[in-house]
Amino acid sequence: MPRFVKMATLDEIPAGSTKEVEFEGRIYAIYNTDGVISAIDGICPHQGGPLAEGMVEGTTVTCPWHGWQFDVRSGKTPLGPKIKQAVYEIKIEDQDVLVSVP
Ligand code: FES
Repeated sequence: MPRFVKMATLDEIPAGSTKEVEFEGRIYAIYNTDGVISAIDGICPHQGGPLAEGMVEGTTVTCPWHGWQFDVRSGKTPLGPKIKQAVYEIKIEDQDVLVSVP
């Protein structure tokens, strides 16, 4: 059973913005791309860069450290299928953004 944890409210992440949340030692990057809320593991698998601080264009975030890119909704990267960033399910309840945590 996934556990959903409130990590933001909708007014904290208007369209085009990102929020980084630490919960139980894990970093989550929560994005609002065109009104769609998504969450991925906030730590870049290359060398640990902060993906919540990356520039977002469309649904693609670019890691601020060395430029690896990830789709913030699917976790996929143009680098190939061997690398995939964890994606966490989202639930919206009233104004609350809940993220499914492992
Ligand atoms: S740490 Fe993200 S691209 Fe290097």
